[in-house]
Amino acid sequence: MASTVKMIGVIGGGQMGSGIAQLTAMHGIDVCLVDVNTQALSTASSSISSSINRLVSKSQLSQDKASDAFKRLRFTTDLNDLSLADFIIEAIVESEDVKKSLFLQLDKIAKSSAILASNTSSISITRLASSTSRPKQVIGMHFMNPPPVMKLIEIVRGADTSDETFAATKELSQRLGKTVITSQDYSGFIVNRILMPMINEAFYTLYTNVATKEDIDMGMKLGTNHPMGPLELADFIGLDVCLSIMKVLHAGLGDNKYAPCPLLVQYVDAGRLGRKRGIGVYDYSKEPRSTKS
Ligand code: 3HC
Repeated sequence: MASTVKMIGVIGGGQMGSGIAQLTAMHGIDVCLVDVNTQALSTASSSISSSINRLVSKSQLSQDKASDAFKRLRFTTDLNDLSLADFIIEAIVESEDVKKSLFLQLDKIAKSSAILASNTSSISITRLASSTSRPKQVIGMHFMNPPPVMKLIEIVRGADTSDETFAATKELSQRLGKTVITSQDYSGFIVNRILMPMINEAFYTLYTNVATKEDIDMGMKLGTNHPMGPLELADFIGLDVCLSIMKVLHAGLGDNKYAPCPLLVQYVDAGRLGRKRGIGVYDYSKEPRSTKS
């Protein structure tokens, strides 16, 4: 099926949605990026343009391939434009209710053969699928941030996901140049079940004054060879996203070890959401505006 995927719909013009759209267009597939907010679409369009142009300037992408990618990208606020999509990837806010209502709409708009994938970082695929009439064609396709760079896609099978849907999603992921891992549908899947408690523990380490934020990050960067320290990574992902994943782990796995650190909760309450807001654990307000996220 995936080799016959000619058009992909991506919903959500944030960091993940725009990165997925860029990746898809660069792999020769037509993509329609949908967001209800025109400002989000225009930010997504300029961040995709600057990312592709940067690859050209570094000679990592030919001008011809860049022009082809630009031609394949379309931006719209109208969900009905996805009626011809073969494969739809949802990358909107991490709220189960909002995602369910989107899946309900998509089920009506998308053609009957289309697969509906969610880039959710932790919400149950089985429950999202239950809001549609095609649970066999619903699957989790979890990209890592930034999608054009990170080599992994975590595929999550819901209780009713068919073997055909799984095979098509795996084939598409490989066509996008990614390595695939497969998870059953339990809170946090594989990556976030392990990553988020580490980030949460870094917050507890800061909260209990064990060390400074710089030393916590340096410890994990140089001590365990991570590209970013956990607090810096939390700012990169978004503290609101980290908190919502911890809440899903806490509710779904029912163990107090997943309770979100009060400092993480307080930062989110204060609007310190990380790089996207210019402040999180660190203050980015004096940095030149990043074109990468
Ligand atoms: N789009 C395209 N390319 C990008 C990019 C983007 N948004 N961001 C960075 N790049 C490219 C750069 O062009 C550069 O390419 P080059 O090496 O060929 O020149 C390369 O990535 C490295 O970028 P930089 O040199 O500017 O910066 P770094 O070396 O610091 O790398 C990073 C940036 C790739 C983000 C690296 O710091 C990293 O790997 N960090 C960890 C990221 C991570 O763990 N992501 C997963 C988070 S968990 C997740 O996403 C799950 C979710 O559910 C929460």
